[in-house]
Amino acid sequence: THLSTGDLLRAEREKGGPTATVIEEYMTAGKLVPNEITVTLLKNAMEMITRTTGKTNFLLDGFPRSLDNLEAWYEIFGRETDLPKMLYFECPYEVLEQRILGRAKFSGRPDDNIESIKLRFDTFKAETLPIVELFRSKGKCVEVDTSQGRQDVYNLVVAHLAEHTAEEF
Ligand code: C5P
Ligand code: MG
Repeated sequence: THLSTGDLLRAEREKGGPTATVIEEYMTAGKLVPNEITVTLLKNAMEMITRTTGKTNFLLDGFPRSLDNLEAWYEIFGRETDLPKMLYFECPYEVLEQRILGRAKFSGRPDDNIESIKLRFDTFKAETLPIVELFRSKGKCVEVDTSQGRQDVYNLVVAHLAEHTAEEF
């Protein structure tokens, strides 16, 4: 089951209330939302899916985005609940910028604008690269060149997932 933390945060933001305000502020500033909000949403979504469908395999899209995200994961799920592998989507900044600005025309996202893109990239370098390095050092990082066309990237991801599923189960 594909589960996007960004989508979960955006859905929570739609509900309104104090948490929604916090999420909106952090997202627009290109910063990572406080761990307890993100991991609680993730936990609730995973439990709901497992309860209603019996499915227990998840592709977490956008998580962990920092060493703190991972620490919060361990605190909630326990040290023995490991994340087996990371798919790291590598893409030149200029390509990403163009894609995001293209998406901005219909996404309605508060962070799909040139200012937020820059801030998100700063956060990526400061907070996300260290977690990529950690997975890489453990041989758990699979790099995917996502500068290519949509279908080519999709095919690469499917191939990696098939390989991973065959290894693990
Ligand atoms: O992954 P996506 O681009 O949808 O994430 C959008 C925003 O959601 C991030 O810039 C960040 O503000 C928030 N986010 C977060 N923690 C995560 C994933 C996303 O705070 N693990
Ligand atoms: Mg996303």
